[in-house]
Amino acid sequence: MYVLGIESSCDETAAAIVTEDKQILSNVVYSQINEHRLFGGVVPEVAARAHLEKIHLVVKKALEDARLDMSDISVAAGTCGPGLIGGVIVGATFAKSVSMAMNIPFIAVNHLEAHALSARLTEDLNFPYLLLLVSGGHCQLCMVHAVDRFNVIGKTVDDSIGESFDKVAKLLGWGYPGGPIIEKMSLGGDDRRFLLPRPLCRKDSCDFSFAGLKTAVRVAAEKCQTEQDRLDLCASFQRAVIDILVYKIKRAIEICGDRNPSAAVVSGGVAANKAVRAALQNVCDQCGLRFVAPPIQLCTDNGAMIAWLGVEKFMAGQFSDLRFTPRPRWPMGL
Ligand code: KG4
Ligand code: ZN
Repeated sequence: MYVLGIESSCDETAAAIVTEDKQILSNVVYSQINEHRLFGGVVPEVAARAHLEKIHLVVKKALEDARLDMSDISVAAGTCGPGLIGGVIVGATFAKSVSMAMNIPFIAVNHLEAHALSARLTEDLNFPYLLLLVSGGHCQLCMVHAVDRFNVIGKTVDDSIGESFDKVAKLLGWGYPGGPIIEKMSLGGDDRRFLLPRPLCRKDSCDFSFAGLKTAVRVAAEKCQTEQDRLDLCASFQRAVIDILVYKIKRAIEICGDRNPSAAVVSGGVAANKAVRAALQNVCDQCGLRFVAPPIQLCTDNGAMIAWLGVEKFMAGQFSDLRFTPRPRWPMGL
């Protein structure tokens, strides 16, 4: 079975072909970084137009890389939300058109659920597991019980984590995209130089908050004079974020212990950060719980995770109607 997955919910136009036995035959990602760099962040209308221009080329390349023809595709899966709605409509409509033209099933994929299940594409990972989802627009902890069953135990009460990385990079004058820049610049800074807050870290709940941390970085950034000051502030910010994640995942492991999670899994764009991965691995080792992180190229947005959720949903008999309406907001499991 060859499942085509299409992703276009933010600033990556992506398509991939994945089989039910976990082979990734192709995984093409066109990043819109150059289109948005000029503006210092993702501009929804610019993103939608770029998706429209590139989607057919990206799908064509995914077929070529897999040495397949459109007539070989068995299922068309497309992100139908949540995300920037102009882009979501482009990818969802393309996937529906493939389904209609080739007379094959269509599967509407929730982008967050695709991140949540992506680790099962490359690992033997049984339900239930504890998931820390850290992306550009979301930060949440949940138990994943099945393809369509999620129990959220904590989420951000204000800003998202990836957005905080992007904002801090901008504040420090390094532009977009922020996450990878912060990771790189942190290597040259002293992470103990600035004392930054770790919001909600004395609380029992698994909720997150990043607004106060961002404000503290903004205030400190105004006083930075040298590049070394900025590197130290950057490293101190990343350290604060990591401390927050470590505190919250520890708390989640305590809370969910009696539900016997098979592992703690991290996914989403921020999971590409090696310092984040190392710290989470360390805390899971201490707690005696298996730690799983997808390969880095499957953490940031990609078509393979969409195709894989297509496989999982196909196996569970969960198909979608072609009248499925794309959703800018779409909580997991609904
Ligand atoms: O999952 P993703 O690709 O898109 C969304 O679903 O939002 O996540 C994108 C986010 C961006 O905010 C980006 O700055 C962050 O992930 N990110 C990183 C790294 N790579 C991407 N954050 C920290 N370190 C990284 N290496
Ligand atoms: Zn994403």
